Amino acid sequence: MGNESEYFNKVYDKFWSVQSRRYGYAPYEQNLVRLIAKSNPGKVFEVGIGTGWPIGTALKEKGIVVDGCDLAESSVMSARKELGNEEGIWVGDVMSYRGSEQWDTIYCVRASWYIPDFYDTLLKMISMTKSRGYLVFDVMDENSPCCLKIRWSALKEKYYRFLGIHVNEVYGRHFINISKMKKFLKKNGLDYQCWSERKITGNKDRCSTPKVVFLCRKEN
Ligand SMILES: C[S@@+](CC[C@H](N)C(=O)[O-])C[C@H]1O[C@@H](n2cnc3c(N)ncnc32)[C@H](O)[C@@H]1O
Repeated sequence: MGNESEYFNKVYDKFWSVQSRRYGYAPYEQNLVRLIAKSNPGKVFEVGIGTGWPIGTALKEKGIVVDGCDLAESSVMSARKELGNEEGIWVGDVMSYRGSEQWDTIYCVRASWYIPDFYDTLLKMISMTKSRGYLVFDVMDENSPCCLKIRWSALKEKYYRFLGIHVNEVYGRHFINISKMKKFLKKNGLDYQCWSERKITGNKDRCSTPKVVFLCRKEN
């Protein structure tokens, strides 16, 4: 995680503070908020909270307390201010959480593809969710045309490195096999529903809509 942590702290946080404003609070983000707020949670936890805007902000406006964590210190500072929560938002990977608190809903949105061991992260998130509580997350489908294209580039980069040609490290390519994810959720006692990004946004372009959103309920 060393280089990755440095990347999120020194490079990605600046990029994201601008990029998240460009994306705005569009139908995709609004749908995530609707799913997270659906069960009327009192307190939620976001893995990879970023600056807290716009998703945490919209939840806060609904009277929900938003806790969370992120690798990037400057993003955490912004999120604390944005969401008026000094205590519950901290710097670090969720895997380092050693407390015993459980939340009504835990979510990880627009961040799973930056997390190398997302299945381990999900197990941790399940352990931090109350019985009959909810999890919401989105992943990038490894078999979508968009991800296939990116995986092809990654293969080419690997070959260039093999030839000794320098290529910058690229983060955010941890794509997920959707069938494997569904089996994993069932095996771990979660009921789920899922929707493609295309269905949510109405964007029919298969090359720019790789995401799949999951809403899960812990059975006990
Ligand atoms: C695209 S941003 C999304 C932020 C926020 N979830 C949102 O939707 O606005 C991805 C965030 O994940 C964070 N991140 C990446 N890997 C992480 C990890 N292992 N643990 C916690 N946060 C992580 C990054 O620092 C970044 O803030």
